[in-house]
Amino acid sequence: MLMMDFLQKRKSVRNFKSAGVPKEELEKIRTHCKELEKEIGDVKFIIVENGEIVQKALKGKAGYSGVMIDAPHYLGLGIDKDDNRTMLAIGYIIEKINTMIVEEGYDTCWITIDRVDENTRKDVFGEIGSSLKYLIAIGQGKEKKFFEIEKASVRYPLNEIVYKDDLSNPVTIDYLEERGLLDILYSIRYAPSHKNLQPWRFVISGSDVVLYMKKSSEDFENKRSLVDMGVVMMYFEEMAKSYNINNKWEVVMEDEGEYLKIGKFTM
Ligand SMILES: Cc1cc2nc3c(=O)[nH]c(=O)nc-3n(C[C@H](O)[C@H](O)[C@H](O)COP(=O)(O)O)c2cc1C
Repeated sequence: MLMMDFLQKRKSVRNFKSAGVPKEELEKIRTHCKELEKEIGDVKFIIVENGEIVQKALKGKAGYSGVMIDAPHYLGLGIDKDDNRTMLAIGYIIEKINTMIVEEGYDTCWITIDRVDENTRKDVFGEIGSSLKYLIAIGQGKEKKFFEIEKASVRYPLNEIVYKDDLSNPVTIDYLEERGLLDILYSIRYAPSHKNLQPWRFVISGSDVVLYMKKSSEDFENKRSLVDMGVVMMYFEEMAKSYNINNKWEVVMEDEGEYLKIGKFTM
């Protein structure tokens, strides 16, 4: 599936059937994780097949206000550091594996566990527990009852997240169309983010797309937003590939008051 269609259709799933993912499918996910570990270095994935252990241990502790998501399996990524660039990498890498799992036909949801005490994390996951900040719940979503309304998380309109030349000049649809950027930037809005904060802002400046993060007053929230920024960086690169643009984001990480300038992508 084209990444643009994929993004517009994807959504987090929080109600899972107890039947999990077939063993051979879990093996496929594991193989993919191993390939990514080799490619990136210094990272380690963990897949917990028996999700019940995790559910019980993290109940009341993980997720939004302690609302743990019960799933048959969980995946986590262990990275020891938590500097800004590492937080970007966490979002980028986890979302890469997440898209692969969803493309295989399974449902997922990110779970934030950065505030779960280290002892609990080590008890559940072993040594790697101390370096896990997020989990991905994996399984098959329960079917919706026919009278249930499909809940979609609202996204900012394009002119509140995309600008021309600087952050005070919202773009027009015509301009985006002229620049051939409408499809990518329209679709990228559907990327997942912590508490659906959508902290990403894009400034089109000449042949570059410059990426900014809207800062919060809390440092720990900014760390979390950096993970969301890593997520959109991954999607942007993947969507650019469908235009035969194989560039990568050039990270700069410059503080600009209300915003953190993350980097630029040359189209
Ligand atoms: C880094 C990150 C952390 C998240 N943490 C949680 C979480 O702890 N609990 C939860 O229910 N959803 C979590 N989510 C899912 C977001 O709430 C969800 O992506 C957002 O509300 C948009 O909804 P959608 O994914 O259905 O489009 C997280 C998403 C990201 C990217």
